[in-house]
Amino acid sequence: MLLPGLLLLLFLLTSTHLFRGRRELCNLHLPPLAPGFLHQLQPNLPIYLLGLSQKFGPVYRLRLGPQEVVVLNSKRSIEEILVTKSRDFAGRPQGVANNLISKNQADVSMGDYTHLWKAHKRLTRSALLYSVHSILESLVEQVTQELCERMRAQAGTPVDIQKEFSLLTCRIISYLSFTDKEDTVVQAFNNNVQDLMTTWEHWSIKILEFLPFLRFFPIPGLRKLKQALETRNCLVEKQLRQHKETMVAGQWRDITDFMLQGVNKLQGERGLELHDDHVLMSLVDILIGGTETTASALAWTVLFLLHHPEIQKRLQEELDVQLGPRTSDSRIQYKDRWRLPLLNATISEVMRLRPVVPLGLPHRAMQPSSIMGYDIPKGMVIITNLQGALLDSTVWEQPHEFRPERFLDPAGSTNINSMIFGCGPRSCLGEPMARLEIFLVLAQLLHTFTVLPLEGALPSLEPQPYSGVNLKLQPFQVRLQPRQCCEIAGEGSSFAG
Ligand code: HEM
Ligand SMILES: *[C@@H]1O[C@H](CO)[C@@H](O)[C@H](O)[C@H]1NC(C)=O
Repeated sequence: MLLPGLLLLLFLLTSTHLFRGRRELCNLHLPPLAPGFLHQLQPNLPIYLLGLSQKFGPVYRLRLGPQEVVVLNSKRSIEEILVTKSRDFAGRPQGVANNLISKNQADVSMGDYTHLWKAHKRLTRSALLYSVHSILESLVEQVTQELCERMRAQAGTPVDIQKEFSLLTCRIISYLSFTDKEDTVVQAFNNNVQDLMTTWEHWSIKILEFLPFLRFFPIPGLRKLKQALETRNCLVEKQLRQHKETMVAGQWRDITDFMLQGVNKLQGERGLELHDDHVLMSLVDILIGGTETTASALAWTVLFLLHHPEIQKRLQEELDVQLGPRTSDSRIQYKDRWRLPLLNATISEVMRLRPVVPLGLPHRAMQPSSIMGYDIPKGMVIITNLQGALLDSTVWEQPHEFRPERFLDPAGSTNINSMIFGCGPRSCLGEPMARLEIFLVLAQLLHTFTVLPLEGALPSLEPQPYSGVNLKLQPFQVRLQPRQCCEIAGEGSSFAG
């Protein structure tokens, strides 16, 4: 009884809400309205939204959740709001659930575009870049080495590679943030990130955006979300306390030291109201933004290589020719990417077909503006369908085909970075980190192993139903065949056969 009642109420509230706004808008030249609501129940939302642009053009309005939003499905329209008119569209929608999880907006990814927010984002970016430049490369090399050794020891048995990548990226982030690589700590953060993501996506949390007063009731998902948030805060607060006790002024062991000292400095010098909650939320953004996204990008690449063994073979040849055959002390450095164009192109092609944040994060118009000639009123929420734009057939030849070569021709290859990580004032903070991790982990993994499917059908390239933010894979397993011993075994068996 509760659910149908809720849905009815929800319908009444949203329709009156929409009706009220309508009158002031009727003098404007708005984008066309795609009819219907509950579009968000579509399992592959980005592709569904791209499909609607066949009928309505690349820019249209739609009822998504509690309000009307504008959806952008082309490179041109998306670049208009991210680059040309970036100030007009740098806001974020503010909802109840946002406030719950972001400590009342002390947050970079969900915070609105204000003077304080800009200083906060700048400080977080400096902290990240500092750690990227000081230790990321050697850290990635070391944890990947550990992964390879473990995999070699259990050679040939089925591996849940997604889980391995997720622990690997979590280990990296946890070390950069807190100088902590203890397995128990990494596991605790990893579990918490998973908890936060699943509770956040629960329907009862989504309903809060329509019916904010429900937060005063004991709805099922809300209690779980609050628990996960409490665990999250405890874990990070403990780190903050320990860091404050042992920190030496002017020295930074990790992102936490950098942020704590940076906040003090900004408070003292410029009177900015940044405090511990801002440090905590930056660390949360980095933990949540930095683990599953990068891990999924790695897993999507492995999955495409299972479907395209010929590309995997060419990648391994490229690695062998450029770096020599794999030996126990061979090293791959990030600057080697200039010598490994096919690997670079393959990563771009996987990210084009499966951008792990396919709809970006929602933007909000800070003032009346326009997109592709349509009027956009202040407060309008804008969804950037990045995946849609990356499949635009006016830009890409045979857009649905996996063809890394398209990125090898410098003249023909279109710059896709802004469609993968966003750009402008709201651009992704983790791009340098994610790129380095993805490149080095794959190079080392493919130099050491051949990735093989288990017996039977290949795992599906279809993503899990879209909910939340990330484009997730369905669970799958692989076998990792050590390369040298694989070739010898291969010869042996061909003699036997
Ligand atoms: C393959 C990996 C990744 C992809 C594809 C990705 C993509 C994106 C996209 C599309 C956005 C939204 C841009 C917009 O609003 O227009 C974003 C925002 C963000 N990302 Fe990433 N990201 C990745 C990894 C990371 C990592 C490793 C971190 C942190 C260490 C991170 C932290 C953030 C933060 C904090 C924001 C919010 C920025 C803001 O609101 O101003 N991301 N990311
Ligand atoms: C990697 O590929 C992208 C996309 O084609 C390109 O913009 C970039 O310059 C390439 N980087 C290297 C190191 O070749």
